[in-house]
Amino acid sequence: ASAANPRIILPAALFGARRNSAGLEFGERAGFERFLARRNEAANKRVALEGASVPVRSPVDGSEVGACRPLSEAEARALMDRAARAVRATGQVPVSRRAAALRGAADKIEARGAEFTALLAREAGKTIDDAIAEIREAADFLRFYAGEAERVFGHAEALPGPTGEENKLVHRPRGVVVAISPWNFPLAIFIGQVAAALAAGNVVVAKPAEQTPLVAGIAVSILREAGISADALHLAVGDGAVGAALVAHPACAMIAFTGSTETAQAINRALAAKSGPIVPLLAETGGINAMVADATALPEQVADDVVSSAFRSAGQRCSALRLLFLQADVADRVVEMIEGAAAELVVGDPADPATDIGPVIDAEQKRMLDEHVSAMEREKRVRFKGKLPASLPPGGHWVAPAVVKLDRPEQLTREIFGPVLHVVTWKAGELDKVCDAIEATGYGLTLGIHSRIDETIRTVSERLSVGNVYINRNTIGAVVGSQPFGGSGLSGTGPKAGGPNYLQRFAIEQVVSTNT
Ligand code: SER
Repeated sequence: ASAANPRIILPAALFGARRNSAGLEFGERAGFERFLARRNEAANKRVALEGASVPVRSPVDGSEVGACRPLSEAEARALMDRAARAVRATGQVPVSRRAAALRGAADKIEARGAEFTALLAREAGKTIDDAIAEIREAADFLRFYAGEAERVFGHAEALPGPTGEENKLVHRPRGVVVAISPWNFPLAIFIGQVAAALAAGNVVVAKPAEQTPLVAGIAVSILREAGISADALHLAVGDGAVGAALVAHPACAMIAFTGSTETAQAINRALAAKSGPIVPLLAETGGINAMVADATALPEQVADDVVSSAFRSAGQRCSALRLLFLQADVADRVVEMIEGAAAELVVGDPADPATDIGPVIDAEQKRMLDEHVSAMEREKRVRFKGKLPASLPPGGHWVAPAVVKLDRPEQLTREIFGPVLHVVTWKAGELDKVCDAIEATGYGLTLGIHSRIDETIRTVSERLSVGNVYINRNTIGAVVGSQPFGGSGLSGTGPKAGGPNYLQRFAIEQVVSTNT
């Protein structure tokens, strides 16, 4: 990437760019410069949430981005009590007003795009491209769920019945929804969960990841400005113990969780141990995501898509490619291209438009990634490791992209959440074995297939129960409404975020049968 890169497509609302006749947005250079100036101004602002006492440090250089006030477990419980008292009034707000507030929040988020870009870089280490895509996604979620609320909850659905009987299906809010979101999309996923729960008429207690409370704090203030009442939306800053207190509280009527498989399983266990109502968990977790490329695929395209899928966002996407299955005939050529492209990636300060890969989120993630790559180096499996520039800000959590060659796919036993790609080769006639290996991971989130043989594409995609299959393209960046996102097995429960069946999960179905 470079500052002058003409390929950067800039969302109109962020840069004041034009729309073309097809409604698509194109950026313009001057707009980008103005945007950067506004962003740089915002970058120096310290963000303090109400009652702030604990510093929030940047993964870029360890500097203090702002401060937050984590709750004690007792305060988390008291917050749930407060939320429970607001259930009745919140559920009475008409759908049209909820939808209008969500749409208003989308406009406000876009209007503050420069500020969010600065904060996403400093608090979460997001590059400009990633921050822009995330702001776009947050606005998309808000508008999409506003429309879905009107479609799904706006009227009672008439159901068939004999003469003299009227049957209708209505949706009612569940009550208090606990929304627990991750640090890798501190704006988009936070907003997506909250918007869905609010759209369905619930009261929400939202717990952002402890690494990224500030983006969440601003998102909450925007939703309130847009018309969501302070009783309907509560921010619960804190660590896992705070999350556990929210989950354990008797008022918790549903949990929307995005994060690690281990935490989703821990929530499941906590729910199983609870007495009282049976509480549903909507979980979206990770994956050992695979891509299968055969000898008919276009090598340049495979390499390009692999590089973006594995390394963009420092590999810190649940959709990111972890395990590449290359047909042996083309493997050397494709791997050489991948390594050539990966060597060009610039690791650096995410505020710099030339940066491709920012820092990983914290010291613990860096340690885990460094240990994995060192272990692979000891086993002589690392084929490529990028160089870290000497000029990197000290105190940042930097990890260079790496390509690891495995003999067998089973050698990758867990999700490695960072810029590390694992490659295995397969021979003609072994496609079944490849599918067995992918299935054996137990995950089912994203899958890439690169082939020009329809039969291969059909066989692989029909065989594997993954949530999102991407054919002859990269495997990241699901678009709200077009590519509803989420998986099965170890990757989550569904329904898919940004899809037509998502909001229903946040509501209770009620059938009213009248003898007329
Ligand atoms: N929804 C994001 C993506 O598709 C996931 O992490 O990349």
